[in-house]
Amino acid sequence: MSNVTVITIDGPSGTGKGTICCHLAYLMKWNFLDSGALYRVLAIAAKKNQIGNEDELELIELTNNLDVEFKMRNPESMADVLFNGKIVTDEIRTEVCGKAASVIAPIAGVRKALLTRQRAFCKEPGLIADGRDMGTVVFPNAELKIFLTASIDERAKRRFKQLKEGGISVNLRRLHREIEERDERDSGRKLSPLKPADDAIIVDTTDINVEDVIGKISKLVIDKIPNLSKRVVDYLR
Ligand code: C5P
Repeated sequence: MSNVTVITIDGPSGTGKGTICCHLAYLMKWNFLDSGALYRVLAIAAKKNQIGNEDELELIELTNNLDVEFKMRNPESMADVLFNGKIVTDEIRTEVCGKAASVIAPIAGVRKALLTRQRAFCKEPGLIADGRDMGTVVFPNAELKIFLTASIDERAKRRFKQLKEGGISVNLRRLHREIEERDERDSGRKLSPLKPADDAIIVDTTDINVEDVIGKISKLVIDKIPNLSKRVVDYLR
């Protein structure tokens, strides 16, 4: 594996991973990987191409040709997701798409093909990777591994607010149930289940606002990542 420095931030939906990773990647001018977006785009592409989850070979081919890019907007916003050069950020954010992604995610051939695609994001000056198995499977040698948690009630409220702000109308109780089901599917699967790496630092964000979580993680980055440039350290302080 390469010598590029990697920071992994894993955890279930609604813990603030995406916001925090985008913020750090933008300030540090590092590369960013939203691995969940890859599973989401794949689910959409499979549907559009009428490929069912039983067609593993076709799914693998689709994965190998998946053209996905992330474009940072500003430190406060999530990155835009481009699929075949077209912005699909809003299209993939729905909980329907989240569910489809988590149903496609346990397929062995898909995970294997995505492994290569995900590792290709690991380039100088460094990578911030957001997902479920970044620290356990995709980047096991990452310099800093963080696992974010929060209570299910708090996570459902956050996702509710985020989706509403993005103009997606949702029912809080239904969203709560859907997140719970997705957690169970992600934690219960055999391959790369959602769990902290043995050497991950666990941060419970239930009672902490996003600014304070960013402050906490920025401090960990400064403490644990050697040879950061002065510019990066100044930005993070
Ligand atoms: O993080 P996000 O909610 O966008 O992820 C959507 C789904 O993709 C997850 O519920 C999970 O099933 C799958 N996923 C995964 N491994 C990752 C990232 C996401 O299995 N590293």
